[in-house]
Amino acid sequence: MRKKIVAANWKMNMTQAESARFVESLLLDLGDIIDIEVVILPPFTAIAKVMEALGKAQNIKVGAQNMHWERSGAFTGEISAALLRDLFVHYVVLGHSERRTLFGETDEIVNRKVRAAHEATLRPIVCVGETLEQRDKGNVDKILSIQLRGSLKGLSEKELQETVIAYEPVWAIGTGRNATPEQAQEAHMFIRHTLREMADDAAAERVRIQYGGSVKPENARELMSQPDIDGALVGGASLDPRSFVQIVKAARDE
Ligand code: PGA
Repeated sequence: MRKKIVAANWKMNMTQAESARFVESLLLDLGDIIDIEVVILPPFTAIAKVMEALGKAQNIKVGAQNMHWERSGAFTGEISAALLRDLFVHYVVLGHSERRTLFGETDEIVNRKVRAAHEATLRPIVCVGETLEQRDKGNVDKILSIQLRGSLKGLSEKELQETVIAYEPVWAIGTGRNATPEQAQEAHMFIRHTLREMADDAAAERVRIQYGGSVKPENARELMSQPDIDGALVGGASLDPRSFVQIVKAARDE
């Protein structure tokens, strides 16, 4: 059984004060949750504040939205895995489509980051997904296969099992237009099939695959009830603690 994982990707939002208020509200509803893994992904500037607000609530994990692959050095403006570990961060999102399209990240760059994350015992959440044009041309499987093989190259079976994959069709991110549960399940099944080709069956079965792209309280339950959908990576709807809590509860109920 894979434990579902629901993450709040705040992107470039949330001040320290807003972050603290969010966590206080979250703890009222989810302070003791253990059956679902809940992860908050604040901007770098609010990570310490979120940690502080979580206090002893170690059931809720914190992640970063990006990092550099080098351990340290002259990389002005960058953050390393070691610096994130210093803040007790557990997860890091890598290869988000906004990083790929707006900041030119290739599968090779994502792969360097994924390996560096594992070396530092940070768990990567690796994003993959096709554009609308690629879907219309019938290239979903091909794109997913290229992104997965490129981004996860060279990982040991253990590292692969500890990696979370997020299937985020680019056309569904921030558009209000989510993939249907059937479309998402089909892509997730293909992702697991590809993982089976890359590692052994048992390892592929253990990898958790989140769906991301316009997840809302209204569609969360149906999406997460699909057999290969093991949680959600939530953007817009994660900025309001009430809607995020509803999405987490939808993962629990299904
Ligand atoms: P969205 O973003 O929920 O606002 O579509 C998801 C994401 O980019 O992770």
